[in-house]
Parts: sequence; structure tokens; C-alpha cells
Amino acid sequence: MGWKTLDDMDLKGKVVLTRVDINVPVENGIVTDTTRIDKIAPTVKDILARGGKPVLLAHFGRPKGKPVPEMSLRVTLPALEAALGRRVIFAADCIGAPAKQAVAAMQPGDVVMLENTRFHPGEEKNDPSLAAALAALGHAYVNDAFSAAHRAHASTEGIARLLPSAAGRLMEVELNALEAALGNPVRPLGAVVGGAKVSTKLDLLGNLVEKVNHLVIGGGMANTFLVAKGVEVGASLAERDMADTARAILAKAIETGCAVHLPVDVVVAREFREGATSQTVPVTACPSDAMILDAGPRTVEAIGKVFESCRTLIWNGPLGAFEIAPFDAATNAAARKAADLTRAGKLVSVAGGGDTVAALNLAGVAGDFTYISTAGGAFLEWLEGKRLPGVEVLRQP
Ligand code: 3PG
Ligand code: MG
Repeated sequence: MGWKTLDDMDLKGKVVLTRVDINVPVENGIVTDTTRIDKIAPTVKDILARGGKPVLLAHFGRPKGKPVPEMSLRVTLPALEAALGRRVIFAADCIGAPAKQAVAAMQPGDVVMLENTRFHPGEEKNDPSLAAALAALGHAYVNDAFSAAHRAHASTEGIARLLPSAAGRLMEVELNALEAALGNPVRPLGAVVGGAKVSTKLDLLGNLVEKVNHLVIGGGMANTFLVAKGVEVGASLAERDMADTARAILAKAIETGCAVHLPVDVVVAREFREGATSQTVPVTACPSDAMILDAGPRTVEAIGKVFESCRTLIWNGPLGAFEIAPFDAATNAAARKAADLTRAGKLVSVAGGGDTVAALNLAGVAGDFTYISTAGGAFLEWLEGKRLPGVEVLRQP
């Protein structure tokens, strides 16, 4: 079961509604990270090369169905024009007269971007009348927004039912990378799951213990697992009410033969600030007034051994409080180990989700991973084993 791609479409002379995710960080009217914009450029260029007329559909922020001037997509135009190497014509509404006029005036080689789809309440409701109004603007639909595919919205799901549809180039790359990591991986398969809370990653942990051979648990959520095993964690962040849930995950892992790796030594401190006095202690020796803020060097060594035994690795979430030195040490060292093995051709490494990419960037190794997803929430839902509406609707029987 697969997806149609641009190769399967005849786009010559056609208006191609192209859903992209350029929901990028902006500070003082300037895009501070153009990654998502740069990554959709190949799709837009490919549509142009096939004689198609790309009309970009996108959301920006969460304006909740009303036009909010600070959430206009205009702010992305300079970065988009730079990525495409050409001018982009902007329409002040994604439907109605502004959109119709901009599309009608398109010449071969033109690119149009329509204003934020979330300015209309029908977008997030997946309202069929908004989907129909969008679809009426063009002849074909291409979805290149994997990172928004967990949303069943008019521009990601509804519209795909109304027009001949295909996956864009970035969507293809994301789906192939995730399939190689979790769908049909070369084993042994390992996963690193870190971050603050077990409660936000329950479904993910439950799905991964069924699929991976090794599960490395780090960050604040490791503390919850330690509590579940009767280890005292002092003043550490831990969700004590989740202990039963953590025990159930550990029991399931035993059933499925998944080896769970928890810290054996930890870095503790009495304050959480840059350069705070810290010490490394065995995991069973956290002082009652101290917090666990990172994994220790013996743990990092053990994680390195796990990585060496794996052929494929999925990474989501930091191992410690990586935003503040020295509590980024375990995340950095483990990330470098994964990057070294990947460069040596011994490991396929795939990472994604919110803080993860920031942590790998800080570690300076993001470029050495096999693939880094542009997705946050969509990556997590994929790891949870959920079906993403924006992907499902593209599937060919
Ligand atoms: C993202 O930034 O993760 C996507 O663009 C989805 O945005 P949303 O979480 O507001 O739906
Ligand atoms: Mg999000």
C-alpha cells in the first residue's frame, strides 16, 4: 500500500494546491529557523518543472478561526522567496475573491501563496464547504506537510477527498524514513525516549515496547520508572502517581522481550541553574534534598554499548535537563556516539519531535543522523502507532 507521488501525476498547465507546513518560529517579524521552508522548496520546484502552477496552502500559529494580523503568512515570504529563488505572489485570503484572482492571473512559472488557512473556522473543523472552496481553486492536490498530517483539517484531509492527490517530495522522504525506522527496520532496533513526563508519552512507550529490542529511557520520565522500581529519587521531578503505569510498561516489556535501560548513575544538584554545583552518584544514592538532572558517565557508556549492538535507532527526547550546562552532558555524549556509528555506516538513526531536534543541534550532531524529521506532534503520533489522517487519505488501495 503506497502513495501517489509527483511522478504519477500529469501536472502540465494544472493549478496544483500544495499543502506545506511552514509553521516556523518568528521573532520580531523575522523567521529564525527556515528549515521547514527550505525543505518544501524541492516539491514546489518539481511542480514548476512539470509545468504545474503551485498554489501553496498553509497554516501559521493557532489563530482559532479568525484573522489575526500577527499570524499572517506574509512574514514567511522573504524566506520562501529565498528558498525558491523566485518571487511569490501573496493572496490575502485562502478562498474568495483574493484567492480566485491570484490563481486566475497565474502565468507559467508563478508561485502563489494563500493566507493562513486557520483564519477560517472551517479549517480545524474539517468543514466540507471550506474543503470544497479550496478544491475549487485548482485541479490537483499535493500534500507535503507531514508535520501537520496528524491534523484532520480541511486543507490536510478534506480537500484530498475532492481532487486527484499525491504526496510531495518531503512527505515521501518523511514516510520512507519512518518506515525504515519503525515499519520495517533492520534489527536490532533501539529507541531512546527522554523528556520530562511519562504521562505525555504513555502511548508512545506502550507502542515502542512492542516493537523495539532496546528501549533507553532518560530525562525526568526515567525518575518515574525508578520510583516504580522502589528507587528513592529525592527531590527529583517524578510523577509518583504514574508508578503503576510505569510498572505496567515494564511488565509488558518483559513479555515482549524488549530490554529497558534505565540510568545506573546520575548527576544530582540542589539547584537547577547554569553551572550549579553537582555530583555524580550511583542511582540508588540520590540525596533526599537533591534532584536528578542528568544521567551519569557509566549510564552513557552503557547506552553506547546498546547503540553498538543496534542497527537502527529511533531518538525522541533528551536524556537530561539539556538546556542548561552541565546537565546536557549525557545527551551530548550519547548523541555523538549515535552520530559516530551512523557516519561509520553501522547505524540508521532517525530522530524527531519538539525538543529532540533542539538537543541534537546543541550537541552539534544533527547533520550526522540518517534522518531528522521536521515533525513534532506528527512524529510522536507516528511513534505511538496512530494513523495520521493527512497520510491515510493519500493512501492508494
Ligand atoms: C507543528 O508546528 O507541529 C505543526 O505545524 C502543527 O501545528 P499545530 O500543533 O498548531 O497543529
Ligand atoms: Mg505542534
